[in-house]
Amino acid sequence: MYILGFESSCDETSAAVVEEVGGRLFVRSNIVASQIPVHRLYGGVVPEIASRAHVEAISRITGEALREAGIGLSDVGLIAVTSHPGLIGALLVAVNFAKGLASAHGIPLVGVDHVRGHIAAAYLSGEAGNEVPEPPFLALALSGGHTSIFRVKSYTDWETVGSTRDDAIGEAFDKIGRLIGLEYPAGAAFDKLAAEGFFRATGHDATTLAEYEASEAGRDPEMKLPSPALPGETLDFSFSGLKTAAINLLHHLGQTGGELPRDLFAARYTALCVGAVEKKIGQALDRYPGLPVVAAGGVAANSHLRRELASLAKRRGVGLFIPPIPLCGDNAAMIAAEGYYEYLAGNLQDSSLNASASDD
Ligand code: KG4
Ligand code: ZN
Repeated sequence: MYILGFESSCDETSAAVVEEVGGRLFVRSNIVASQIPVHRLYGGVVPEIASRAHVEAISRITGEALREAGIGLSDVGLIAVTSHPGLIGALLVAVNFAKGLASAHGIPLVGVDHVRGHIAAAYLSGEAGNEVPEPPFLALALSGGHTSIFRVKSYTDWETVGSTRDDAIGEAFDKIGRLIGLEYPAGAAFDKLAAEGFFRATGHDATTLAEYEASEAGRDPEMKLPSPALPGETLDFSFSGLKTAAINLLHHLGQTGGELPRDLFAARYTALCVGAVEKKIGQALDRYPGLPVVAAGGVAANSHLRRELASLAKRRGVGLFIPPIPLCGDNAAMIAAEGYYEYLAGNLQDSSLNASASDD
């Protein structure tokens, strides 16, 4: 079966074709029209501009997705579209487009939760036949708008066991990145700068957090910042304290004329963010021993996080699944993947499907 997926919740318009063959899901096309250069001028996403850009792109990229997959609409067995959460005007573009196609061509329709979609990126098989996770597992959703730990009991039965109480991890990278001169979205540039900082701290590449923390730079009290991992048994995070402390540190250095070693700062900040995720997923594994771990969302592209999670999974003897980098950011193939399982569970929608800005 071919599934046509749509995503327009934030600043990428995406259409994709995923093919289900014997229960495995293969990406046949995944077209992503990024609006980042437009929003970059403003240092963040401007919702009205996002909606208009989605309207301009969606029809064209749908044609491209079908062409690249070598199919026509009559071959499509299911349409899946992100219906929540996200920017309401942006979401409405793909929801209405998908509803129109579904009703005009008599194709079944499912609305997909964007955050679940991120995790479902891990269900997509590469041509090389990579292993894919099967519930139950623990899932980390790490993006510009979300930081959550889920206990995924079945493909459609999820429990949130931890989440941020304020800012999301990607937002924490983007906002502080901007202050140190990195363009929106800052995540990827932050990742590179931190790698330079870790290298300076330890003298070698692929530094582990433990090696960094044992180094002189890793212990420098001048750069002391609070951890976003809340203390105690909770699996929750708070990034706002770290963000405020980082802003204060940057101001203090500016006022005292001190020079900011940007690479070492990026390393410290990254170590705290990655360390917090590692700590909380470690605690989640204490609570639910032996479950495999899936990590997804834009921030799951972070090289330091990927390395640290790999070593944690090895130490704990559990499976780890992180989608390839192009499938970590917003894309419609992941929405098609989640849509397939919603469809199997019978969660079909009709033309009354609506978009919602919130989580449900
Ligand atoms: O999942 P996503 O594409 O959109 C949302 O649903 O939010 O995530 C975007 C976020 C941005 O905050 C971006 O800075 C961050 O993912 N990001 C990264 C990296 N690449 C993208 N954060 C850290 N390290 C990266 N390599
Ligand atoms: Zn996303």
